[in-house]
Amino acid sequence: MKKKIALIFGVTGQDGFYLSELLLKKKYKVHGVKRRSSSVPTRRIEKYLNNKNFFIHYGDITDASSVQNLINKINPTEIYNLAAQSHVGVSFLTPLYTANVNALGVLSILEAIKNTNNEIKFYQAGTSEMFGKTINKSQNENTIFNPQSPYGTAKVFAHQITKNYRDAYNIFASNGILFNHESPIRGENFVTKKIISSLVKISLGLQKKLVLGNLYAKRDWGHAKDYVEAIYKILQKNKPGDYVISTGKEYTIKEFVNMTAKMLKLKISWKGKGLKEIAINKDNGKTLISVSKIYYRPLEVDFLKGDSTKAKKELKWQSKIKIKELINEMINYELKNLI
Ligand code: NAP
Ligand code: GDD
Repeated sequence: MKKKIALIFGVTGQDGFYLSELLLKKKYKVHGVKRRSSSVPTRRIEKYLNNKNFFIHYGDITDASSVQNLINKINPTEIYNLAAQSHVGVSFLTPLYTANVNALGVLSILEAIKNTNNEIKFYQAGTSEMFGKTINKSQNENTIFNPQSPYGTAKVFAHQITKNYRDAYNIFASNGILFNHESPIRGENFVTKKIISSLVKISLGLQKKLVLGNLYAKRDWGHAKDYVEAIYKILQKNKPGDYVISTGKEYTIKEFVNMTAKMLKLKISWKGKGLKEIAINKDNGKTLISVSKIYYRPLEVDFLKGDSTKAKKELKWQSKIKIKELINEMINYELKNLI
């Protein structure tokens, strides 16, 4: 039987959890890499720590020696690189660090594959942020990249270098170009999680106000559980390639707030414009949501909507979980942790 040994960089993150879950179900031996931290970094993957097919190692993709040593020791059949400084806003505050992790870190892994065993299949976690300021209403694998942040720019380097190593050294190296995907275990400072966790607390009387940035950016939001299936399928093809993974639907941040408020039976109405825009509670006139400059970015990606025709055709993949189901699941998770 074919050996199935996966090495996941970024296993402690949102996608790391869902991908581990999927690969363990498929009878893989899953090796994950955690960074040294002053607090427990394995909160999300706690349920797998005692699984006999799940192994955790210390490492960091900015430390080429640790990457090389792990690959030598584990000799994986597949490597999934999900590791990144993944917050676009924070990338403006830590640009060099972000470039080091998101661009050079990827090159470290590719070099180690080239020098060790070029039969290892490699997945790179690319992003719709690479499209940035685009003129195309929807974006596919042929859309030109025009990133608008240190995060997006570093990811373009990672995308291109992955293609270079595929072509130059005949490595099975593929890029996913994933649009935003969320889940109950999404990081706290991404907008969906922030909106849902705050509005749930507001609905229970545990928080007074939610402060947001740009309400008019549009995003194409899917569910991480669906998206890791696409990631897996990308590495099971006979040939490497690049794939856009998305739902094909876009909503503004304000529409996301409105859907969440409605599900929580919070009656809100919007007033004002720009930084003065607020949402009030229709029942008592109190301000529930306001806007602050501090959450605006120096550059914004105004809209993103993916066209996953290639993934549908070649991977037989399609996003299944609809936005309202996603919001509902995220709301229920918050409620369960609060009540
Ligand atoms: P996430 O929750 O922020 O997880 C990022 C992971 O990378 C964490 O495990 C983190 O470890 C790890 N990491 C950060 N720096 C590292 C380093 N130097 N060495 C090793 N590990 C490091 O992100 P996610 O939402 O799961 O996303 C996974 C990947 O997909 C990321 O590369 C992201 O840029 C990309 N992506 C995400 C989306 C999305 O909407 N979620 C869309 C497109 C692309 P700690 O736990 O120690 O911080
Ligand atoms: N985080 C955050 N916090 N974003 C806000 C806020 C706020 O208070 N208010 C408005 N926004 C707007 C941002 O300006 C952006 O336009 C949009 O909400 C989404 O922001 P995030 O949830 O932080 O996600 P992102 O789109 O910047 O990046 C995510 O998706 C990318 C794929 O397109 C991350 O997961 C990236 O790692 C990923 O590559």
